[in-house]
Amino acid sequence: MPRPEEVPVKRSALSIVLVCAVVLFLGLAVAQAPKAGESALGTRKYDDYKTPQFCGTACHTDIYRQWQQAMMSQAYTHHWDEIEYFKLAVPHAEKDSVVAGVKAGCNGCHAPIAFLAGDVPPPHPDKGSRANESVSCEVCHTATGFQGDTPHNFNFVSSPGQTKYGPREGKNSPEHSLSKSDFLGSADFCGTCHNEMSPYGVWVKSTHLEWKEGPYAKQGVKCHDCHMTYAPGKTAAMGNTYPDARQHLFHGAHDPGKVRGTIELRIHPDVVEAVPGDPVRFTVALFNQKTGHKFPSGSVEDRIVWMHVEAVDAKGTVYHLPVDKKGFAGEEYTIGADALAYQDMGIALNDPAFKGIQRDGIPIGDRIFRMAYFDPQGRMTLQQWNTKSLGTDYRIGPRETKLETCTFRLPDGVALGELKVTAVLNYQKLVKPAADFLGVPADESEIIEVNRHSTTVKIVD
Ligand code: HEC
Ligand code: HEC
Ligand code: HEC
Ligand code: HEC
Repeated sequence: MPRPEEVPVKRSALSIVLVCAVVLFLGLAVAQAPKAGESALGTRKYDDYKTPQFCGTACHTDIYRQWQQAMMSQAYTHHWDEIEYFKLAVPHAEKDSVVAGVKAGCNGCHAPIAFLAGDVPPPHPDKGSRANESVSCEVCHTATGFQGDTPHNFNFVSSPGQTKYGPREGKNSPEHSLSKSDFLGSADFCGTCHNEMSPYGVWVKSTHLEWKEGPYAKQGVKCHDCHMTYAPGKTAAMGNTYPDARQHLFHGAHDPGKVRGTIELRIHPDVVEAVPGDPVRFTVALFNQKTGHKFPSGSVEDRIVWMHVEAVDAKGTVYHLPVDKKGFAGEEYTIGADALAYQDMGIALNDPAFKGIQRDGIPIGDRIFRMAYFDPQGRMTLQQWNTKSLGTDYRIGPRETKLETCTFRLPDGVALGELKVTAVLNYQKLVKPAADFLGVPADESEIIEVNRHSTTVKIVD
C-alpha cells in the first residue's frame, strides 16, 4: 500500500513533466511553423532555389519553352508590371503608411524568390537579377501547402530542397527526389496568388473565389483543366511518356485565342418589319461558355469588356445604338461615359491636384461588363492596393447569360430595305487612356474582339 502522501507527490511530478513536454512541444511547433505570406519575407536565400534554366536546359525542355512563353515567366519583367510597380506602387507605398506593405508584397506573387530572399524592392528588370525569374519552376514545385483558411496573398508554404513536389507517385530522377503532392494539383494552390486582399481588407483579385462559388468547382473542373491541359507526351527529355503530361500553358488574358469566343452573342429584334419613326427593340443574349470564373477576372481594375451595337441601313448609313439603362445601383460605371477617373495616381506622381484621365476611352453609351474599384475617397481607381470599396459586380459569371437591350427609334431618313444590326463584344486588358498616360506599350491596350453577331429588320413605308 503506498502511503497516502506519496500519490500527490507523484502526480505533481508527472504533471510537471507533462507541462514541460507541452511547453517544449509548443515551443518547437512555433519555432518550426512554416512561414508563409508576409511573414515569409527574408526567410530564404536565392541559392535555396534552382534557376529555371537549370531545370529546363537539359531535362524539362518542352515545359521550359512553354513556361517562357507564359506570363508566369514575365510576372516581374513584363512592361506593365514594371511600370505599375516602380512608377506607382513603390512611390505610393513610401508616402502612405496604410499601403506601405506593398513595396515588398507585390513581389510575394510577382517575384516570389526575391520576396523570400528579402531582396525588396528588387533591382529593376534591366539589371538582370534573379528577381527576373518571376514565377519560376521552383516557386511552384517547392510549395507544400498554404496557411490559414483561404488561399490568398501568397500564403503558400515554400519548402525548397532536394525534394520536388509534383503529380506522380513513385517516380524518381537522377537530379532530385520526387514527392507526390495533392496540393499542387488543387485550385487552392493557384488561389494563393490568384486571390488578393488589399490593405483595406477588400478582395481585389478573386479568380479562385469566383471559381469556387461557380458551377465548375461543383463539377470538379479545376484551373488546371483549362490552363494546364493534359496531352500524351514526355515531361522530361530522358523520362517516360505519359498519357496525361501536364502542359504548362497558363494562357489567359494575354492569349487572344483564349479570350476569343469566351462569350457567345445572339442578337434579335422584337419585330421583323418596321416603318421609319417606329421604335425597334434589339435584345442581345451574352452567354459565358468558356471561363471557369467571371469574365473579366484577375486584374479586374484594369480590364474593360464592352458591347458595341451598330445598325447599317440599305444606303450604308451607320447608326450607333446605345444600350438601354436597367436602373440598378452603380449602373453609371457600366455604361461608357465621358468622365474622369483614377485621380489617386496623383499621389505617386507627386501631383496631389491631379485631375485624372478619361475613365473608359470607348464609345459613350456602350455597355461595360466590369466591377469598379474605389479609392478611400470614393474615386474610381486602377490601383488595386489603394482600393477601399468595390462597385456593383457587373461581370459575366461562368455559364451565366446576361440580356441587354437597345431600343432604336428608326430615324425618319433611314433607307427603306434591309437594316443590319450587329453587336460586337470587345475586350481590352488595360483601359486605353491609362495605357497612353502611363506609357504602357500598345499591346496591353489592343482591342481583342471576343465575339459578334448580326440580325436584320426590314424597313418598309
Ligand atoms: C505556377 C506554377 C508552376 C510553374 C511556374 C511550373 N510548374 Fe510544373 N507543374 C505545376 C503544376 C500545378 C503541375 C501539375 C500538378 C498536378 O496536376 O497535380 C506541374 C507539373 C509538372 C511536372 C510533371 C508533369 C507530369 O505530367 O508528370 C513537371 C516535370 C514540371 N511541372 C516541371 C516544371 C518546370 C521544369 C517548370 C519551369 C520551367 C515548371 N514546372 C513550372 C505548376 C507549375
Ligand atoms: C506564386 C504565385 C502564383 C501561383 C502559385 C500561380 N500563379 Fe498564375 N500568375 C501569377 C502571376 C503573378 C501572374 C501574372 C503575370 C503578369 O501578367 O504579370 C499569373 C498569371 C497567370 C495566368 C495568365 C493570365 C494572363 O493575364 O494572361 C494564368 C492563366 C494563370 N496565372 C493561371 C494559374 C494557375 C492555373 C495556377 C495554378 C496551377 C497558377 N496560376 C498559380 C502568380 C501565380
Ligand atoms: C472552364 C475553363 C476554365 C477554368 C476551370 C478556369 N479558367 Fe481561367 N480562364 C479561362 C478562359 C477561357 C480565360 C480567358 C478569358 C479571360 O481572360 O477571362 C481564362 C482567363 C484566366 C485568367 C486571366 C483573367 C483576366 O481577365 O485577366 C486567369 C488569371 C485565370 N484564368 C486563372 C484561373 C484560375 C486560377 C482558375 C482556377 C481557380 C481558373 N482560371 C479556372 C477558362 C478557365
Ligand atoms: C496575391 C498575389 C498578387 C499580389 C500581392 C500582387 N499581384 Fe499583381 N497580379 C497577380 C496575378 C495573379 C495577376 C494576373 C491576373 C490576371 O491575369 O488577370 C496579376 C496582374 C498584375 C498586373 C497586370 C498584368 C497585365 O499585364 O495585365 C499588374 C500590372 C500587377 N499585377 C502589378 C502588381 C503590383 C504593382 C502589385 C503590388 C501593389 C501586385 N501586382 C500585387 C498577383 C498578385
